[in-house]
Amino acid sequence: MVIKCWLTHLMLLLITWKESLNCSGLTVDPPENLTVVDPGHFGHLEISWSPPGSLINMTNCSTVYHLEYFNTYKNSWNAARMSIRSYSVQFDLMKDIKVRVFTILDGPCTNNKMIKSTNYTELIQKPPSTGIVDTEVQDFICLFHNMEYLECKWRRNPKTPANSKHNLYFWHKKLAQAVDCPNYIVSSGDRSGCNFTGTSLPKFTDINFCVNGSSPKGPLKPAFFSLQIQNHVKPAIANKLRVQTGPDMELRLQWECPAGSVPGHCLEWEVEHSQKGKTPPTKSVTRQTSLTLTSVHKSERNCFRVRSKLSKYCADKSFWSDWSQPICDQEKKEIAPEPQPSVVPVYICIAAAIIAMLVLSLCVGAALKVKKSRQEKRPNALLATLFPRNVTVAAGEA
Ligand SMILES: *[C@@H]1O[C@H](CO)[C@@H](O)[C@H](O)[C@H]1NC(C)=O
Ligand SMILES: *[C@@H]1O[C@H](CO)[C@@H](O)[C@H](O)[C@H]1NC(C)=O
Ligand SMILES: *[C@@H]1O[C@H](CO)[C@@H](O)[C@H](O)[C@H]1NC(C)=O
Ligand SMILES: *[C@@H]1O[C@H](CO)[C@@H](O)[C@H](O)[C@H]1NC(C)=O
Ligand SMILES: *[C@@H]1O[C@H](CO)[C@@H](O)[C@H](O)[C@H]1NC(C)=O
Ligand SMILES: *[C@@H]1O[C@H](CO)[C@@H](O)[C@H](O)[C@H]1NC(C)=O
Repeated sequence: MVIKCWLTHLMLLLITWKESLNCSGLTVDPPENLTVVDPGHFGHLEISWSPPGSLINMTNCSTVYHLEYFNTYKNSWNAARMSIRSYSVQFDLMKDIKVRVFTILDGPCTNNKMIKSTNYTELIQKPPSTGIVDTEVQDFICLFHNMEYLECKWRRNPKTPANSKHNLYFWHKKLAQAVDCPNYIVSSGDRSGCNFTGTSLPKFTDINFCVNGSSPKGPLKPAFFSLQIQNHVKPAIANKLRVQTGPDMELRLQWECPAGSVPGHCLEWEVEHSQKGKTPPTKSVTRQTSLTLTSVHKSERNCFRVRSKLSKYCADKSFWSDWSQPICDQEKKEIAPEPQPSVVPVYICIAAAIIAMLVLSLCVGAALKVKKSRQEKRPNALLATLFPRNVTVAAGEA
Protein backbone atom coordinates (compact mmCIF):
# COMPACT_ATOMS: atom_id res chain seq x y z
CA MET A 1 0.00 0.00 0.00
CA VAL A 2 2.74 2.39 1.06
CA ILE A 3 4.80 1.31 -1.92
CA LYS A 4 1.83 1.76 -4.27
CA CYS A 5 1.19 5.24 -2.94
CA TRP A 6 4.89 6.06 -3.28
CA LEU A 7 4.83 4.77 -6.87
CA THR A 8 1.84 6.94 -7.79
CA HIS A 9 3.66 9.91 -6.37
CA LEU A 10 6.71 9.05 -8.43
CA MET A 11 4.52 8.67 -11.53
CA LEU A 12 2.90 12.04 -10.92
CA LEU A 13 6.29 13.61 -10.36
CA LEU A 14 7.54 12.12 -13.60
CA ILE A 15 4.51 13.41 -15.49
CA THR A 16 4.86 16.93 -14.14
CA TRP A 17 8.59 16.76 -14.82
CA LYS A 18 7.87 15.63 -18.36
CA GLU A 19 5.32 18.41 -18.79
CA SER A 20 7.83 20.99 -17.74
CA LEU A 21 10.40 19.50 -20.08
CA ASN A 22 10.31 20.55 -23.68
CA CYS A 23 12.28 18.83 -26.36
CA SER A 24 15.02 21.29 -25.45
CA GLY A 25 14.62 20.87 -21.70
CA LEU A 26 13.13 22.76 -18.77
CA THR A 27 10.30 25.29 -19.00
CA VAL A 28 9.32 27.99 -16.56
CA ASP A 29 6.06 29.77 -15.78
CA PRO A 30 5.57 33.51 -16.20
CA PRO A 31 5.47 35.66 -13.03
CA GLU A 32 2.28 36.11 -11.04
CA ASN A 33 0.34 38.95 -9.46
CA LEU A 34 1.47 41.68 -11.83
CA THR A 35 0.29 45.05 -10.48
CA VAL A 36 0.73 48.70 -11.44
CA VAL A 37 0.41 51.22 -8.62
CA ASP A 38 -0.11 54.97 -9.16
CA PRO A 39 1.40 56.86 -6.19
CA GLY A 40 -0.07 60.17 -7.50
CA HIS A 41 2.97 61.27 -9.48
CA PHE A 42 1.09 61.84 -12.75
CA GLY A 43 2.35 58.85 -14.68
CA HIS A 44 5.42 57.71 -12.76
CA LEU A 45 4.01 54.26 -11.97
CA GLU A 46 5.37 51.40 -9.88
CA ILE A 47 5.14 47.98 -11.52
CA SER A 48 5.59 44.90 -9.33
CA TRP A 49 5.08 41.14 -9.57
CA SER A 50 5.75 37.86 -7.75
CA PRO A 51 7.81 34.90 -8.91
CA PRO A 52 5.75 32.03 -10.35
CA GLY A 53 4.44 29.69 -7.62
CA SER A 54 6.09 26.70 -9.33
CA LEU A 55 9.49 28.26 -8.66
CA ILE A 56 9.20 28.42 -4.90
CA ASN A 57 11.00 25.12 -4.20
CA MET A 58 13.60 25.50 -6.92
CA THR A 59 17.02 25.95 -5.38
CA ASN A 60 20.26 26.84 -7.11
CA CYS A 61 18.33 28.78 -9.72
CA SER A 62 18.90 32.40 -10.43
CA THR A 63 15.76 34.14 -11.54
CA VAL A 64 15.69 37.20 -13.76
CA TYR A 65 12.64 39.04 -15.08
CA HIS A 66 12.18 40.41 -18.53
CA LEU A 67 9.82 43.39 -18.47
CA GLU A 68 8.24 44.92 -21.55
CA TYR A 69 6.13 48.06 -21.48
CA PHE A 70 4.54 50.12 -24.17
CA ASN A 71 6.19 53.52 -24.30
CA THR A 72 3.27 55.80 -25.13
CA TYR A 73 5.58 58.77 -25.77
CA LYS A 74 7.63 56.92 -28.41
CA ASN A 75 4.83 54.59 -29.57
CA SER A 76 6.99 51.50 -29.24
CA TRP A 77 7.73 48.69 -26.81
CA ASN A 78 10.64 49.10 -24.41
CA ALA A 79 12.28 46.25 -22.51
CA ALA A 80 14.37 45.87 -19.38
CA ARG A 81 15.89 42.87 -17.53
CA MET A 82 16.33 42.79 -13.79
CA SER A 83 16.49 40.46 -10.81
CA ILE A 84 14.40 42.77 -8.61
CA ARG A 85 10.60 42.41 -8.65
CA SER A 86 9.56 46.03 -9.05
CA TYR A 87 10.30 48.82 -11.47
CA SER A 88 9.17 52.43 -11.99
CA VAL A 89 8.40 53.74 -15.46
CA GLN A 90 6.89 56.95 -16.80
CA PHE A 91 3.55 56.46 -18.59
CA ASP A 92 1.14 58.81 -20.29
CA LEU A 93 -1.94 58.48 -18.11
CA MET A 94 -4.19 59.62 -20.97
CA LYS A 95 -3.36 56.41 -22.91
CA ASP A 96 -3.62 52.65 -22.27
CA ILE A 97 -0.95 51.20 -20.00
CA LYS A 98 0.42 47.88 -21.32
CA VAL A 99 2.95 45.82 -19.35
CA ARG A 100 4.26 42.26 -19.88
CA VAL A 101 6.69 40.29 -17.80
CA PHE A 102 8.52 37.00 -18.46
CA THR A 103 10.52 34.78 -16.10
CA ILE A 104 14.05 33.78 -17.03
CA LEU A 105 15.88 30.94 -15.24
CA ASP A 106 19.61 30.57 -15.18
CA GLY A 107 22.26 28.91 -12.99
CA PRO A 108 23.12 25.31 -11.97
CA CYS A 109 19.44 24.26 -12.07
CA THR A 110 19.31 24.78 -15.82
CA ASN A 111 22.88 23.72 -16.51
CA ASN A 112 23.69 27.42 -16.80
CA LYS A 113 21.44 27.77 -19.81
CA MET A 114 19.07 30.71 -19.98
CA ILE A 115 15.45 29.59 -20.11
CA LYS A 116 12.71 32.12 -20.74
CA SER A 117 9.04 31.44 -20.03
CA THR A 118 7.18 30.86 -23.28
CA ASN A 119 4.28 32.96 -22.11
CA TYR A 120 4.13 36.22 -20.24
CA THR A 121 1.88 37.79 -17.68
CA GLU A 122 0.20 40.86 -19.09
CA LEU A 123 -1.62 43.84 -17.65
CA ILE A 124 -3.59 46.38 -19.68
CA GLN A 125 -5.01 49.36 -17.86
CA LYS A 126 -7.40 51.85 -19.47
CA PRO A 127 -7.02 55.55 -18.66
CA PRO A 128 -9.17 56.65 -15.72
CA SER A 129 -12.49 58.08 -16.85
CA THR A 130 -12.75 60.91 -14.34
CA GLY A 131 -14.07 64.35 -15.23
CA ILE A 132 -16.53 65.69 -17.80
CA VAL A 133 -15.65 64.42 -21.29
CA ASP A 134 -13.96 66.88 -23.68
CA THR A 135 -12.98 69.35 -21.00
CA GLU A 136 -9.25 68.64 -20.82
CA VAL A 137 -7.01 71.61 -21.65
CA GLN A 138 -5.46 71.89 -25.12
CA ASP A 139 -2.16 73.04 -26.68
CA PHE A 140 -0.13 72.67 -23.50
CA ILE A 141 3.31 74.16 -24.10
CA CYS A 142 6.26 74.90 -21.81
CA LEU A 143 9.11 77.29 -22.63
CA PHE A 144 12.31 77.50 -20.58
CA HIS A 145 13.03 81.17 -21.30
CA ASN A 146 16.77 81.68 -21.79
CA MET A 147 17.23 78.81 -19.27
CA GLU A 148 16.10 81.20 -16.53
CA TYR A 149 12.48 80.44 -15.80
CA LEU A 150 9.92 77.95 -17.07
CA GLU A 151 6.54 79.12 -18.31
CA CYS A 152 3.78 76.65 -19.23
CA LYS A 153 0.61 77.69 -21.01
CA TRP A 154 -2.57 76.00 -22.18
CA ARG A 155 -5.77 76.78 -24.00
CA ARG A 156 -9.11 76.01 -22.38
CA ASN A 157 -11.23 73.44 -24.16
CA PRO A 158 -14.17 75.15 -25.94
CA LYS A 159 -16.49 72.69 -24.18
CA THR A 160 -15.36 73.79 -20.71
CA PRO A 161 -18.38 74.97 -18.67
CA ALA A 162 -18.51 78.63 -17.64
CA ASN A 163 -17.01 79.60 -14.26
CA SER A 164 -14.49 76.75 -14.34
CA LYS A 165 -11.20 77.02 -12.52
CA HIS A 166 -8.05 75.26 -13.70
CA ASN A 167 -5.26 73.97 -11.49
CA LEU A 168 -1.75 72.89 -12.38
CA TYR A 169 0.16 70.43 -10.22
CA PHE A 170 3.67 69.21 -10.89
CA TRP A 171 5.97 66.50 -9.61
CA HIS A 172 9.56 65.35 -10.15
CA LYS A 173 11.80 62.81 -8.39
CA LYS A 174 13.06 65.29 -5.81
CA LEU A 175 9.54 65.98 -4.54
CA ALA A 176 7.78 63.64 -2.13
CA GLN A 177 4.40 64.64 -3.54
CA ALA A 178 2.76 66.80 -6.17
CA VAL A 179 2.94 70.58 -5.71
CA ASP A 180 0.53 73.32 -6.87
CA CYS A 181 1.63 75.96 -9.41
CA PRO A 182 3.63 78.72 -7.64
CA ASN A 183 2.36 81.57 -9.83
CA TYR A 184 -0.61 81.30 -12.20
CA ILE A 185 -0.78 83.32 -15.42
CA VAL A 186 -4.24 84.81 -15.74
CA SER A 187 -5.65 86.11 -18.99
CA SER A 188 -9.14 87.59 -19.34
CA GLY A 189 -10.10 86.24 -15.94
CA ASP A 190 -9.05 82.61 -16.60
CA ARG A 191 -5.97 80.73 -15.52
CA SER A 192 -4.13 80.11 -18.77
CA GLY A 193 -0.69 79.08 -17.56
CA CYS A 194 1.87 78.81 -14.82
CA ASN A 195 5.05 80.83 -14.30
CA PHE A 196 7.72 78.88 -12.40
CA THR A 197 9.85 81.97 -11.83
CA GLY A 198 11.98 81.51 -8.72
CA THR A 199 11.19 77.77 -8.53
CA SER A 200 14.23 75.61 -9.15
CA LEU A 201 13.35 72.70 -11.40
CA PRO A 202 15.92 69.97 -12.11
CA LYS A 203 17.26 69.41 -15.62
CA PHE A 204 17.66 65.94 -17.20
CA THR A 205 14.79 64.49 -15.20
CA ASP A 206 11.13 64.06 -16.08
CA ILE A 207 8.86 66.76 -14.74
CA ASN A 208 5.23 65.63 -14.70
CA PHE A 209 2.30 68.00 -14.92
CA CYS A 210 -1.40 67.58 -14.32
CA VAL A 211 -3.84 70.27 -15.36
CA ASN A 212 -7.23 69.53 -13.83
CA GLY A 213 -10.00 71.78 -12.66
CA SER A 214 -13.42 72.19 -11.18
CA SER A 215 -16.62 73.59 -12.64
CA PRO A 216 -20.18 74.09 -11.44
CA LYS A 217 -21.03 70.91 -13.43
CA GLY A 218 -18.33 68.79 -11.79
CA PRO A 219 -14.60 68.15 -12.14
CA LEU A 220 -12.89 68.81 -15.48
CA LYS A 221 -11.09 66.00 -17.25
CA PRO A 222 -7.44 66.07 -16.15
CA ALA A 223 -4.64 66.28 -18.72
CA PHE A 224 -1.15 64.92 -18.05
CA PHE A 225 2.19 65.97 -19.52
CA SER A 226 5.79 65.00 -18.92
CA LEU A 227 8.92 66.75 -20.14
CA GLN A 228 12.55 67.55 -19.39
CA ILE A 229 13.17 71.28 -19.25
CA GLN A 230 16.52 71.26 -21.06
CA ASN A 231 14.58 70.26 -24.18
CA HIS A 232 12.25 73.28 -23.97
CA VAL A 233 14.72 76.16 -24.05
CA LYS A 234 13.85 79.33 -25.94
CA PRO A 235 16.97 81.53 -26.08
CA ALA A 236 16.74 85.31 -25.68
CA ILE A 237 17.08 87.62 -28.70
CA ALA A 238 20.57 88.19 -30.11
CA ASN A 239 21.90 91.71 -29.71
CA LYS A 240 24.49 94.16 -31.07
CA LEU A 241 23.92 93.13 -34.66
CA ARG A 242 26.45 94.91 -36.92
CA VAL A 243 27.04 94.83 -40.63
CA GLN A 244 30.37 95.84 -42.16
CA THR A 245 31.17 96.38 -45.78
CA GLY A 246 34.17 94.41 -46.96
CA PRO A 247 36.14 94.64 -50.20
CA ASP A 248 34.44 93.83 -53.50
CA MET A 249 31.00 92.33 -53.04
CA GLU A 250 31.50 91.23 -49.44
CA LEU A 251 29.42 91.93 -46.37
CA ARG A 252 30.38 90.87 -42.87
CA LEU A 253 27.67 90.39 -40.27
CA GLN A 254 28.38 90.11 -36.54
CA TRP A 255 26.27 89.78 -33.43
CA GLU A 256 26.51 88.80 -29.78
CA CYS A 257 25.07 85.95 -27.73
CA PRO A 258 22.31 87.03 -25.38
CA ALA A 259 23.39 87.47 -21.76
CA GLY A 260 22.16 84.78 -19.38
CA SER A 261 22.47 81.12 -18.59
CA VAL A 262 22.57 79.62 -22.09
CA PRO A 263 26.16 78.59 -22.92
CA GLY A 264 27.25 80.34 -26.12
CA HIS A 265 28.73 77.15 -27.59
CA CYS A 266 25.27 75.56 -27.42
CA LEU A 267 23.67 78.05 -29.79
CA GLU A 268 23.08 77.60 -33.46
CA TRP A 269 22.06 80.62 -35.53
CA GLU A 270 19.81 81.22 -38.46
CA VAL A 271 20.56 84.32 -40.51
CA GLU A 272 17.89 85.68 -42.79
CA HIS A 273 19.10 87.87 -45.66
CA SER A 274 16.60 89.86 -47.66
CA GLN A 275 17.18 92.24 -50.52
CA LYS A 276 14.67 94.87 -51.42
CA GLY A 277 12.50 93.71 -54.28
CA LYS A 278 13.87 90.17 -54.12
CA THR A 279 11.74 87.38 -52.72
CA PRO A 280 11.99 85.11 -50.88
CA PRO A 281 14.72 85.91 -48.33
CA THR A 282 17.62 83.46 -48.11
CA LYS A 283 18.43 81.67 -44.88
CA SER A 284 21.71 80.26 -43.64
CA VAL A 285 22.65 78.41 -40.48
CA THR A 286 25.89 78.85 -38.56
CA ARG A 287 27.30 77.99 -35.14
CA GLN A 288 29.46 81.14 -35.11
CA THR A 289 28.34 84.64 -34.17
CA SER A 290 29.40 86.10 -37.51
CA LEU A 291 28.79 85.47 -41.16
CA THR A 292 30.61 86.72 -44.25
CA LEU A 293 28.59 86.97 -47.42
CA THR A 294 30.28 87.20 -50.79
CA SER A 295 28.78 88.32 -54.11
CA VAL A 296 26.36 90.74 -52.46
CA HIS A 297 24.84 93.35 -54.73
CA LYS A 298 25.48 96.53 -52.83
CA SER A 299 23.27 98.56 -55.10
CA GLU A 300 20.37 96.80 -53.42
CA ARG A 301 19.61 97.39 -49.80
CA ASN A 302 20.59 94.26 -47.83
CA CYS A 303 18.72 93.57 -44.62
CA PHE A 304 19.45 90.88 -42.04
CA ARG A 305 18.01 89.43 -38.88
CA VAL A 306 19.12 86.47 -36.76
CA ARG A 307 17.56 84.01 -34.34
CA SER A 308 18.97 81.11 -32.36
CA LYS A 309 18.19 77.75 -30.83
CA LEU A 310 20.11 75.10 -28.91
CA SER A 311 22.15 72.84 -31.17
CA LYS A 312 21.64 69.09 -31.17
CA TYR A 313 24.88 68.73 -29.18
CA CYS A 314 23.30 70.40 -26.16
CA ALA A 315 19.62 69.35 -26.25
CA ASP A 316 17.36 66.89 -28.02
CA LYS A 317 15.17 69.76 -29.14
CA SER A 318 14.80 73.49 -28.67
CA PHE A 319 12.56 76.37 -29.60
CA TRP A 320 13.71 79.19 -31.88
CA SER A 321 14.28 82.50 -30.17
CA ASP A 322 12.41 85.53 -31.49
CA TRP A 323 14.08 87.29 -34.44
CA SER A 324 16.49 90.09 -33.67
CA GLN A 325 15.73 93.64 -34.86
CA PRO A 326 16.47 93.76 -38.57
CA ILE A 327 19.58 95.64 -39.66
CA CYS A 328 20.37 96.94 -43.15
CA ASP A 329 23.68 97.83 -44.75
CA GLN A 330 22.67 101.32 -45.94
CA GLU A 331 21.42 102.80 -42.73
CA LYS A 332 24.43 102.67 -40.47
CA LYS A 333 22.95 105.11 -37.96
CA GLU A 334 20.25 102.65 -36.94
CA ILE A 335 22.36 99.55 -36.74
CA ALA A 336 22.47 98.91 -33.01
CA PRO A 337 19.16 97.47 -31.79
CA GLU A 338 19.85 98.98 -28.40
CA PRO A 339 16.89 99.97 -26.26
CA GLN A 340 15.59 103.42 -27.21
CA PRO A 341 16.82 106.12 -24.84
CA SER A 342 13.98 106.83 -22.47
CA VAL A 343 11.75 109.84 -23.07
CA VAL A 344 12.51 111.62 -19.77
CA PRO A 345 16.13 112.70 -20.61
CA VAL A 346 14.85 114.13 -23.94
CA TYR A 347 12.39 116.37 -22.08
CA ILE A 348 15.13 117.44 -19.65
CA CYS A 349 17.37 118.38 -22.61
CA ILE A 350 14.58 120.43 -24.25
CA ALA A 351 13.80 122.22 -20.97
CA ALA A 352 17.50 122.97 -20.40
CA ALA A 353 17.79 124.35 -23.95
CA ILE A 354 14.74 126.63 -23.45
CA ILE A 355 16.12 127.91 -20.14
CA ALA A 356 19.56 128.51 -21.70
CA MET A 357 17.98 130.48 -24.57
CA LEU A 358 15.94 132.55 -22.11
CA VAL A 359 19.01 133.31 -20.00
CA LEU A 360 20.94 134.26 -23.13
CA SER A 361 18.21 136.60 -24.38
CA LEU A 362 17.87 138.16 -20.91
CA CYS A 363 21.61 138.69 -20.79
CA VAL A 364 21.60 140.33 -24.21
CA GLY A 365 18.57 142.44 -23.23
CA ALA A 366 20.15 143.50 -19.96
CA ALA A 367 23.43 144.32 -21.65
CA LEU A 368 21.62 146.52 -24.19
CA LYS A 369 19.68 148.21 -21.39
CA VAL A 370 22.89 148.90 -19.49
CA LYS A 371 24.49 150.29 -22.64
CA LYS A 372 21.43 152.50 -23.28
CA SER A 373 21.20 153.94 -19.74
CA ARG A 374 24.97 154.62 -19.92
CA GLN A 375 25.10 154.22 -16.19
CA GLU A 376 28.47 153.33 -14.70
CA LYS A 377 27.67 150.31 -12.61
CA ARG A 378 30.09 147.80 -11.16
CA PRO A 379 29.81 144.22 -12.61
CA ASN A 380 28.76 142.84 -9.23
CA ALA A 381 25.70 145.10 -9.15
CA LEU A 382 24.77 144.10 -12.72
CA LEU A 383 24.86 140.41 -11.76
CA ALA A 384 22.78 141.12 -8.68
CA THR A 385 20.03 142.68 -10.82
CA LEU A 386 20.14 139.90 -13.41
CA PHE A 387 20.23 136.88 -11.15
CA PRO A 388 16.87 137.22 -9.30
CA ARG A 389 15.06 137.85 -12.61
CA ASN A 390 16.58 134.78 -14.22
CA VAL A 391 15.47 132.62 -11.37
CA THR A 392 11.88 133.82 -11.48
CA VAL A 393 11.67 133.36 -15.25
CA ALA A 394 13.21 129.88 -15.08
CA ALA A 395 10.86 128.86 -12.29
CA GLY A 396 7.92 130.15 -14.29
CA GLU A 397 9.01 128.14 -17.34
CA ALA A 398 9.55 124.93 -15.37
C1 LIG B 1 -0.55 36.35 -5.50
O1 LIG B 1 -1.50 37.10 -4.78
C2 LIG B 1 -2.38 36.28 -4.04
C3 LIG B 1 -3.44 37.15 -3.42
O2 LIG B 1 -2.96 38.44 -3.24
C4 LIG B 1 -1.59 35.49 -2.98
O3 LIG B 1 -2.46 34.63 -2.25
C5 LIG B 1 -0.53 34.68 -3.66
O4 LIG B 1 0.27 34.04 -2.71
C6 LIG B 1 0.33 35.55 -4.55
N1 LIG B 1 1.26 34.73 -5.27
C7 LIG B 1 2.55 34.77 -5.11
C8 LIG B 1 3.36 33.86 -5.95
O5 LIG B 1 3.09 35.56 -4.33
C1 LIG C 1 7.73 23.30 -1.32
O1 LIG C 1 8.32 22.53 -0.30
C2 LIG C 1 7.57 22.45 0.90
C3 LIG C 1 8.33 21.64 1.91
O2 LIG C 1 9.66 21.50 1.56
C4 LIG C 1 6.22 21.82 0.60
O3 LIG C 1 5.45 21.79 1.78
C5 LIG C 1 5.51 22.62 -0.49
O4 LIG C 1 4.31 22.01 -0.84
C6 LIG C 1 6.38 22.77 -1.70
N1 LIG C 1 5.71 23.64 -2.67
C7 LIG C 1 5.64 23.43 -3.98
C8 LIG C 1 4.93 24.46 -4.80
O5 LIG C 1 6.18 22.47 -4.49
C1 LIG D 1 23.32 24.02 -4.83
O1 LIG D 1 24.63 24.34 -5.22
C2 LIG D 1 25.58 24.20 -4.18
C3 LIG D 1 26.94 24.61 -4.70
O2 LIG D 1 26.82 25.59 -5.65
C4 LIG D 1 25.63 22.72 -3.70
O3 LIG D 1 26.52 22.57 -2.62
C5 LIG D 1 24.22 22.29 -3.28
O4 LIG D 1 24.23 20.93 -2.99
C6 LIG D 1 23.23 22.56 -4.38
N1 LIG D 1 21.87 22.26 -3.92
C7 LIG D 1 20.96 21.63 -4.64
C8 LIG D 1 19.66 21.40 -4.00
O5 LIG D 1 21.17 21.26 -5.79
C1 LIG E 1 -0.44 33.35 -22.21
O1 LIG E 1 -0.97 34.19 -21.20
C2 LIG E 1 -2.15 34.84 -21.55
C3 LIG E 1 -2.54 35.72 -20.39
O2 LIG E 1 -1.42 36.12 -19.65
C4 LIG E 1 -3.24 33.83 -21.86
O3 LIG E 1 -4.39 34.50 -22.27
C5 LIG E 1 -2.76 32.89 -22.96
O4 LIG E 1 -3.71 31.87 -23.16
C6 LIG E 1 -1.44 32.28 -22.58
N1 LIG E 1 -0.94 31.49 -23.67
C7 LIG E 1 -0.44 30.26 -23.52
C8 LIG E 1 0.07 29.58 -24.73
O5 LIG E 1 -0.39 29.72 -22.41
C1 LIG F 1 7.09 85.11 -15.61
O1 LIG F 1 8.12 85.55 -14.74
C2 LIG F 1 9.21 86.22 -15.37
C3 LIG F 1 10.27 86.49 -14.34
O2 LIG F 1 9.75 87.10 -13.21
C4 LIG F 1 8.70 87.49 -16.05
O3 LIG F 1 9.76 88.12 -16.72
C5 LIG F 1 7.61 87.09 -17.05
O4 LIG F 1 7.07 88.24 -17.65
C6 LIG F 1 6.51 86.30 -16.37
N1 LIG F 1 5.57 85.86 -17.39
C7 LIG F 1 4.28 86.15 -17.36
C8 LIG F 1 3.47 85.66 -18.48
O5 LIG F 1 3.80 86.81 -16.45
C1 LIG G 1 -6.37 67.95 -9.18
O1 LIG G 1 -5.24 67.14 -8.91
C2 LIG G 1 -4.71 67.27 -7.61
C3 LIG G 1 -3.46 66.45 -7.52
O2 LIG G 1 -3.65 65.13 -7.90
C4 LIG G 1 -5.75 66.84 -6.59
O3 LIG G 1 -5.24 67.01 -5.30
C5 LIG G 1 -6.99 67.70 -6.78
O4 LIG G 1 -8.02 67.27 -5.92
C6 LIG G 1 -7.49 67.64 -8.22
N1 LIG G 1 -8.56 68.60 -8.39
C7 LIG G 1 -9.71 68.30 -8.99
C8 LIG G 1 -10.71 69.40 -9.09
O5 LIG G 1 -9.92 67.18 -9.46
